[in-house]
Amino acid sequence: MNTEELIEQEKKYLMQTYSRPKMVLKHGKGMSVWDMEGKEYYDFVGGIAVNNLGYSHSKLVKVIKEQAGKLIHCSNLYYNEPQIKLAQKLVELSCGDKVFFGNSGAEVNEGAIKIAIKYFKNQGEDKFKIIYMKNSFHGRTIATLAATGQYKYQKDYLVILPRFKEAIFNDLNSIKEAIDSEVAAIILEPIQGEGGVYIANREFLEGIKELCIEKNILLIFDEIQCGLGRTGKMFAYQHFGVEPDIITIAKSLGGGIPIGALIAKDKIASSFQPGDHGTTFGGNPLACAVALANLNVLEEEGLVKKCLEKGEYFKNRLKELKEKYPDQIKEIRGLGLMIGMELYKDGGEIVNKCLEEGFLINCTSKKVLRFLPPLIVKEKEIDYLIDVLEKIFKQM
Ligand SMILES: Cc1ncc(COP(=O)(O)O)c(C=O)c1O
Repeated sequence: MNTEELIEQEKKYLMQTYSRPKMVLKHGKGMSVWDMEGKEYYDFVGGIAVNNLGYSHSKLVKVIKEQAGKLIHCSNLYYNEPQIKLAQKLVELSCGDKVFFGNSGAEVNEGAIKIAIKYFKNQGEDKFKIIYMKNSFHGRTIATLAATGQYKYQKDYLVILPRFKEAIFNDLNSIKEAIDSEVAAIILEPIQGEGGVYIANREFLEGIKELCIEKNILLIFDEIQCGLGRTGKMFAYQHFGVEPDIITIAKSLGGGIPIGALIAKDKIASSFQPGDHGTTFGGNPLACAVALANLNVLEEEGLVKKCLEKGEYFKNRLKELKEKYPDQIKEIRGLGLMIGMELYKDGGEIVNKCLEEGFLINCTSKKVLRFLPPLIVKEKEIDYLIDVLEKIFKQM
């Protein structure tokens, strides 16, 4: 089947939940991915912060093959070695003590919300509210939607969504106003991704931490997009010196194999006892073996540190564009290789033009071009993209 025929079949058989450009991706290597017609694209979306090692990294492919030949899946009724080793690695890398594995970001955020409520329940306290930030994104299941501060996603389900409380990102007073005796946890992304790449202020996070200690509230950092090296530190919270009680990660953890993790301090982790939480696939040996290899490659190749340097380079190059086109570009912001370029008008046209030129980029919150390339991106590839963006801005 050719591209057109496949797209026709897609319309016939798939729910139309995504608007996609008219090309079908076939295979990838490193920073590049090719469509059915053989056209090559440099990918600055990276599977939305998933493909940190690029496409078909030889070490990941090797581990997938080896582990698939040994044990793809076994029930969580039984122990498996890769799961235990991966949990150890995540505990060593983070400020957490114990791990629960799920399959996606939304699923581990659900787990975070559940464990926060259970933690207080076990102490005889009825705390069940979650404070979340306006403009946040935590997933599309019912509880995570309730914590996602974007009306466009919540509006059709308001009637069944738990009544969580919204506060304003980087506004400590709004957090103070939202706190009452029923609040169990505050959930936030240290760097909001889907909402348009907004970085938390250090004072804001420090202030929240103090409030959490004072009012006996748990702090959950959703590092699903910004965690695991993306911002130039293994975890984004490490930029701010503020440790959460619970961390959630997913996206890049498995290098494309679905896996998520909920990491918590001991006193919270022990709130879940056998039977309190579970999942069929979460932490299966294949996903865990790949995730462990993925984390090892990040360390061996020094990709986290390099990410900070490349991110600075990328941002500086984008800032040059802003100076040249100040009436089109409003702001450049981000940390490491999680970068947003806010425009004065909708970015859809630029995304399409980049695609024509062989570059995949993303636009979020209508006006923010979001760049989340694999951490293996080279400066010369960043330069190619800048040249293309410059050409597009010049035409506009
Ligand atoms: C910060 C954040 N949290 C949660 C999610 C949901 O993750 P998933 O799509 O794997 O359920 C996303 C996805 O974009 C995200 O960016």
